[in-house]
Amino acid sequence: RIAYVNGRYVEGRHAMVHIDDRGYTFSDGVYEVCEVFRGALIDEQRHYDRLARSLRELRIDPPVGQGALEFILREVLSRNKVSNGFVYLQATRGVSPRDHAFPQTPVRASLIVTARSVDPKKGETAALKGISVVSTPDLRWKRVDIKTISLLPNVLARQAAKESGAYEAWLIDADGMVTEGAASNAWIVDRSGTIITREADQSILRGITRTALVEIIAAQGLRLEERKFSLTEAFGAREAFITGATTLVTPVVMIDGRPIGEGLPGPIAQKLRAVFHEHAA
Ligand code: PDD
Repeated sequence: RIAYVNGRYVEGRHAMVHIDDRGYTFSDGVYEVCEVFRGALIDEQRHYDRLARSLRELRIDPPVGQGALEFILREVLSRNKVSNGFVYLQATRGVSPRDHAFPQTPVRASLIVTARSVDPKKGETAALKGISVVSTPDLRWKRVDIKTISLLPNVLARQAAKESGAYEAWLIDADGMVTEGAASNAWIVDRSGTIITREADQSILRGITRTALVEIIAAQGLRLEERKFSLTEAFGAREAFITGATTLVTPVVMIDGRPIGEGLPGPIAQKLRAVFHEHAA
């Protein structure tokens, strides 16, 4: 397994960063996960745009320009022979002795890139069965629109989901409204067939899959409302699903042990998954 680490392509066991890397000491960094499907990076430009925004919001200078990044991602994919799977990239503020404030003398941001193959059939199996989610309080900070590597609440939420036999956790804000999943965006379909997902403000990550799906929904002539929805509304929904680079469109058939709709993957979620695959191809 070959990783890119600050200018070099190295064997996995030698792929290391400095103990004073601010990603390690403070989670002071950002990341992207991009799906690779039949050798192509899905919605690649949108990932670069979101990365640039995340870096800007945290005032981290980009470690390399977009052209170089495009080259590095392809190099890591080909050196690992990945044609279906993901590429992961992480940029941190760089190496500097531990001090909360930014380094006084500017340091170069760190950049690492890894890639992993995933059997596309695995996701298909999950999508055919549908997944279960559990609700858990959203304990994150108020700027989760920035894709930072600071993911401890998400880690704990995912672990809670796993321990109760579910795949994903839906995070619930102080008003009982669903924000998003621990690593995905959350959607429901109401009794009239209207698709609902929370508006992309600072309380959720504006998923690349979400953005692509908003366009697909419009092109399909389906109705979409971008607004908050409560857990109670989700319990009574006809369908539910999640979106993300690692899950694409995956139907949700159970929330907190209660079946959603018929307790089977819904027709709208299945349709959107199929159309999303066409868009990716
Ligand atoms: N997570 N919301 C959160 C909190 C996420 O972590 C993710 C993605 C999404 C969906 O975004 P996108 O469609 O751009 O993947 C929404 C990635 C896959 C991860 O952390 O592994």
